[in-house]
Amino acid sequence: MCGIVGYVGQKDCAPILVEGLRRLEYRGYDSAGLAVHTGRGVEIVRAVGKLSNLDAALKKNPLSGTTGIGHTRWATHGRPSEANAHPHVAGHVAVVHNGIIENHVQLRRDLESRGVKLQSDTDTEIVAHLIDEAMRQGRTRLSEAVRTALGHVRGAYAIAVVSGDAPDEIVVAKQDSPLVLGIGENENFAASDIPAILAHTRDIILLHDGEMAVLTASHVEISTLEGTRITREHKRIDWSPMQAEKGGYKHFMLKEIHEQPRAIEDTLRGRVDLPNADVVGAEIGLSAELAQRVSRVYFVACGTSAHSAMAGRYWVEQLARIPSTLEIGSEVRTRDPVFVPNDLVVAVSQSGETLDTLAAVKAAKAAGAHVLAVTNVVDSAIARASDGALYTHAGPEIGVASTKCFTSQLAALLMLAIYMGRRRGTLDTDGAHRVLDALWRVPAQMREVLARGEDIKAIAKKYLRTRDMLFLGRGTEFPVALEGALKLKEISYIHAEGYAAGEMKHGPIALIDEDMPVVVVCPRDNQYDKTFSNMEEVKAREGQLIAVCTEGDEDVRALCFSDAAPRSSTRGILSAAEPDVITIPEAANEVQPLLTVLPLQLLAYYMADLKGTDVDQPRNLAKTVTVE
Ligand code: AGP
Repeated sequence: MCGIVGYVGQKDCAPILVEGLRRLEYRGYDSAGLAVHTGRGVEIVRAVGKLSNLDAALKKNPLSGTTGIGHTRWATHGRPSEANAHPHVAGHVAVVHNGIIENHVQLRRDLESRGVKLQSDTDTEIVAHLIDEAMRQGRTRLSEAVRTALGHVRGAYAIAVVSGDAPDEIVVAKQDSPLVLGIGENENFAASDIPAILAHTRDIILLHDGEMAVLTASHVEISTLEGTRITREHKRIDWSPMQAEKGGYKHFMLKEIHEQPRAIEDTLRGRVDLPNADVVGAEIGLSAELAQRVSRVYFVACGTSAHSAMAGRYWVEQLARIPSTLEIGSEVRTRDPVFVPNDLVVAVSQSGETLDTLAAVKAAKAAGAHVLAVTNVVDSAIARASDGALYTHAGPEIGVASTKCFTSQLAALLMLAIYMGRRRGTLDTDGAHRVLDALWRVPAQMREVLARGEDIKAIAKKYLRTRDMLFLGRGTEFPVALEGALKLKEISYIHAEGYAAGEMKHGPIALIDEDMPVVVVCPRDNQYDKTFSNMEEVKAREGQLIAVCTEGDEDVRALCFSDAAPRSSTRGILSAAEPDVITIPEAANEVQPLLTVLPLQLLAYYMADLKGTDVDQPRNLAKTVTVE
């Protein structure tokens, strides 16, 4: 999730661009750069690391001009380096880009076959060369060259383009990545997000997918990529800068919960080959040969990542029929574990920096195991220490409590299991197509579940004063139950415990009484009947049932009805009327965890917010635990 800024007007643009990029730092940065039309053509300055490094580079090489573009990079293709930093230049053209070009491999081959020498590992540089080629093939207007170039491109992009041949204009285009235009007095702006331009104008235009615009100091001309002119109403933004960074949400965590459909779309992008019912190997970080040879998959992770890894373990066993195990990172180091060369160790880590997981990776490497990192940060320590990496494309996660990275990890691990099952012949075409088709539909179904936030908030209000909460699930809903309990613990400070539903009768059932809320994750899956029985056991002991189930499941709703009169208890008034049920759409067993976790994330969020805790930075917690 990179940050783009563009300016064309009467003022010296470099300071405006840098300040705009600073407002987008929450979108992640591992490098940054500017391209400014200085009168001597377009000149660029780039720097690796924080924006302050770009500031320093600009002091050494100032760029003066009134037309320019800027970029902060969150690497998806190619490690963080100056060569991979944006803007990327080809001929007289400079481009900044946010998104993922799906057909970048083929486009790169085509360019190289035409003698083009690419200087970076990025997908963005390819777009710059395509635009430059179009200019040299006689497209007289920069916008026409951009239109021609994008005709070859598949994937997600928000781009801004400047050219030495068009000193007073910026061309922008949008497909599946955000891009807003800011309308000023004799100046106009483009940016990935509103915070970058709020200091200059509150008058914005939101570009839609498949649209582009030509910005000059006095004019903004919008059209479709096919060339049809468009008029678009301006919007007035009355957010504060901080509200703008949160996209109008109260907390980053809530914004990130609602970003999950996009995060899954970006994580799946370019990797799902539905026509062939397969996963694209180039993006998985594991060779076909090794996928066939592996004799054990050993997942290692911490916290929320351990929960996604647990689901991954179930899927690898179910779909690839490989013996799999899950170890908590900190425990691996206390056990003197036995790794063997045919082990595939899968290290799951949002940050890619968790010391407990990194130490386990190093132990596995030392023992000759092959290590695959599943992480959200390109070139992170765990990615660098591993033999290969499968990147989630969730974008930076600011809230300490992980949400969008959890579901992105689930999507990545399910793709890994499918990839391995297809190579080992344990997953046939129909089976793979069924799961991939279900996975492809998850983002839209997530949006349906997230639209039920107010119902979930109403349930949260009922249990605000509870001191304990039990979360139960079976199969891949067991890690979902663990994750729901962790979310509640870490942001509301209410004690919560996740348990395998089948394990309740071995002890935890003693906890059940009218004061114990029990959240049961009970979608229509292959464990439904047993989990439903667990719900009946809770009900028989007056436990307060909260259920996550499949739409239309009247049996669960009936069971959750509390027929007692409204009661007060030591922990607040419990309504007797409305059953506490949150539903998810019908979905294949394998993808249900990506949906059932959403109500638990929102339940934890609303209980914490209503309690008034610091949701984004809960007490005692750090976003990345780089200590033992
Ligand atoms: C997530 O909500 C927690 N903040 C924490 O458990 C986290 O998942 C854990 O520290 C592992 O982090 P990682 O994914 O970056 O390795």
